[in-house]
Amino acid sequence: MNVRAPKGTADMLPDVARAWEYLTRTAQDLFSRYGYEPIYTPLFENTEVFTRGIGEATDIVSKEMYTFLDKGDRSLTLRPEGTASVVRAALEHSLVPQGSSAKLYYSGPMFRYERPQKGRMRQFWQIGVEVLGVAGPSADAEVIVLLVRFFEAVGIPAASMRLLVNSMGDEACRPAYRERISAYIRDHGEQLCEECNRRAVTNPLRAFDCKNPACVAVMAEAPLLRDSLCEECSAHYSTVKAHLDRLGIAYEEAPRLVRGLDYYTRTVFEVQVTEGLGSQNAIGGGGRYDRLMQEYGGPPTPGLGFALGFERTLLAMEAAGVSVPAPARADVYVARVDDSVSESVFTMTAALRDAGVVAELDHQARSLKSQFKQADRLAARLVVIVGPDELAVGEVTLRDMTSKDESRVAIGELVNAVRSRLG
Ligand code: HAM
Repeated sequence: MNVRAPKGTADMLPDVARAWEYLTRTAQDLFSRYGYEPIYTPLFENTEVFTRGIGEATDIVSKEMYTFLDKGDRSLTLRPEGTASVVRAALEHSLVPQGSSAKLYYSGPMFRYERPQKGRMRQFWQIGVEVLGVAGPSADAEVIVLLVRFFEAVGIPAASMRLLVNSMGDEACRPAYRERISAYIRDHGEQLCEECNRRAVTNPLRAFDCKNPACVAVMAEAPLLRDSLCEECSAHYSTVKAHLDRLGIAYEEAPRLVRGLDYYTRTVFEVQVTEGLGSQNAIGGGGRYDRLMQEYGGPPTPGLGFALGFERTLLAMEAAGVSVPAPARADVYVARVDDSVSESVFTMTAALRDAGVVAELDHQARSLKSQFKQADRLAARLVVIVGPDELAVGEVTLRDMTSKDESRVAIGELVNAVRSRLG
């Protein structure tokens, strides 16, 4: 049997799992301060949720989805991202009746059949937020600020991040621009790769994302959507930027930032890091998707949000020399001098744990010497030494592992004595 995890997936061993929990806890604290509530949707959806939502001609839908038929011949897909599922759930449960709004956050694994490399996995983990029912540009600024504040909260220095912003226009101004880009691609067809030529028909704006140097050079001269925005989109974009200016959030306008999902309208943004990640340098991104709910047959409901990638955030933290705070594995180790006191050791450890102390004991009949070694490995600050003679008079010895001081404590006083010594 092959005991390796499938290509592009990784086991989250304790150090990484602890980092994931630290990031999700940080997100919960921060996001709830901004009024967001948790939501969890299934890891798989009816395939149509993604084909309709993300767009048939995107790389995600056309190349990267894990799609399968279940035993009832339904086409299901492992979620490649969270937005489509959250909007589907909001519609199904009428979470956003007309005139109301919802602010939601989520975290969990996403699945994309991509070529694995550093910072690019087939199963990766995201933390994200979605705001539904809010059209005003201050919400765009709030969401962008929240993403930046999250990265700051986990210790990524502002100097190593770049915030890119752009506007994708809306149904009033984008169709005409799309035609212009399509015509531009056709005019330069010979200089562009095969895929970009195909994109002239399927998804012309994606040509801005092509990594082929010849395509990059040609697209650098292409007309920009920024110059063709309708008045409403232009005003919306200006207000978003003005709000960011007000909070002193540094950003760069990136008029060729198109992002890989078709649902975006108006504001899009991405946070990239300058070190440690090579080409997979986008640690988070998002934008507005005012037509997505309607795409599913729901009422007009504006929306916006972001998602950040756990693996890339962790790489960025490592590059910045930030470590995840590690909780104590044991404040107290309860050591047994011989087997005659095993039962007392077991009940004393339980009493300490019930009192909220991180306590550990030996389950493997180790010698006293190796119990002390284990206490050191766990960085225990105190060791309770339980021996038959002391036990006979209702006492134990408490040893401070830093000062090496030892004192006798009555068993009935052990919890209080430990607590006061731990501070
Ligand atoms: P996305 O840009 O496709 O947006 O993904 C967000 C983040 O997930 C990326 O910035 C990256 O950090 C991480 N990520 C994406 N693919 C991979 C991968 N294969 N391996 C590791 N990390 C990856 C979305 O998913 C949108 N749903 C964001 C959004 C929310 N827009 C509006 N609301």
